Amino acid sequence: MDKKVFIGVYGCQMNFSDAERMEGELRAIGYTRVDEMDEAGLIILHTCCVRETAEDKVYGKIGEIKHLKRKNPRLIFGITGCMAQKEQEALIKRAPHIDFVLGTGRMGELNDTVKIFEERISASKSNHVIDTSNVDTDVFEMPDGDVIARQSSVSAWVPIMYGCNNFCTYCIVPYVRGRERSREPQNIVNEVGQAVKKGIREVTLLGQNVNSYGKDHKKADFADLLKMVDDIDGISRIRFMTSHPKDLSDKVIDAIKNGRHICEHIHLPVQYGNNNILKSMNRVYTVEKYRSLIKDIREAISDVSITTDIIVGFPGETDEDFSETLDFIREMEFDAAYTFIYSPRSGTPAAEMGNQVPEDIKHERLHKLMDVQNEISLAINKKLVGKTMEVLVEGESRNENMWTGRTRTNKIVLWEHGSEKIGDMARVEIKKAQTWLLKGKLA
Ligand code: 5AD
Ligand code: SF4
Repeated sequence: MDKKVFIGVYGCQMNFSDAERMEGELRAIGYTRVDEMDEAGLIILHTCCVRETAEDKVYGKIGEIKHLKRKNPRLIFGITGCMAQKEQEALIKRAPHIDFVLGTGRMGELNDTVKIFEERISASKSNHVIDTSNVDTDVFEMPDGDVIARQSSVSAWVPIMYGCNNFCTYCIVPYVRGRERSREPQNIVNEVGQAVKKGIREVTLLGQNVNSYGKDHKKADFADLLKMVDDIDGISRIRFMTSHPKDLSDKVIDAIKNGRHICEHIHLPVQYGNNNILKSMNRVYTVEKYRSLIKDIREAISDVSITTDIIVGFPGETDEDFSETLDFIREMEFDAAYTFIYSPRSGTPAAEMGNQVPEDIKHERLHKLMDVQNEISLAINKKLVGKTMEVLVEGESRNENMWTGRTRTNKIVLWEHGSEKIGDMARVEIKKAQTWLLKGKLA
């Protein structure tokens, strides 16, 4: 029963990447990861608090775990990640069956904390541990080593920086992940090099705002880093996310254009399509600036795909603001957009703003926005029918009896399996386009 860990992961790619590192660490003290909570002697929920819905999911899970704890009093249960950082002891007040709460800057203490509970359990003592101090300082982050239990044998997430300095007024991230700290370029290059030696073909460089990489240590900026990673022997594809429009420089655009392995896909959240709301969001750019950036990118990088994030229902949003945003979205022709309903996060400026938009109007606007974007995504994808695309083979698809992979432009492709293997580059002729995926046959 014991020495098995269940890690439940919520939220963004950074959290999934953290979890691979946590699993790697826990292996060193004898744990193996399991997929079922009731098989585990240690349960960790690695959480997200970017929207209330994310927190609700975690609270649901915390409730389920109460029953497991009753059945098995030796079960160790901890909360890590952004909600741990935000809620701290309030989590334990609400759910006393949680044993420990480790904040985003304290992940290096995971094994020691788990060991404390292993000892307490064998001595039949119990007490809580809460450590969420020092999120802003240069504390031990995820280990810079090769103790990463990567979930995919083909693609690897590689965090290049932690935290965010931008304080968009709706966003909780800077409060729970602290200020920007960039990893050493050499450590990143070493990590990618080791991953490639183990057969990884694609890396995604991760950060809340990758374009401001290196502004702290000044040893390399993001464009320099892209070039360094592009030169690593054996690498096939390089992706990165997320980019902030205010920091995406010409130098980065050139690096993508001239890179050999850097994929032609940029995730560039616009968040909104009207200047008043962008200002109130503290996004620091205007729709005009964003439009000209997209023009520069499209001129420089042929067949680039651009995806975005958009929030509806931000405080003060009027029908006119929203209809301008719909027009802007139509004009930009994004390949895909991740659309969100604004969720007030306590402690952020926007949560205190007047003119909060009623829930029913938020939902109505979300659906209108999704309808517009879905039409655009489908129209763009339909233009690919008849083309043969290079697809990195990821394996069998979960839902359909087909295989799956992605194009360089990050489009999901499904096809009927031939003799290709996971990690191969397949050539697939696109036969059918849908909003979120393409279907084809081996060329
Ligand atoms: N409400 C809704 N969406 C949000 N995001 C960040 N904070 C909030 C919030 N309070 C969205 C942004 C960001 C994405 C990861 O989540 O669009 O780019
Ligand atoms: Fe949040 Fe803005 Fe930072 Fe993105 S750039 S993590 S939206 S504060």
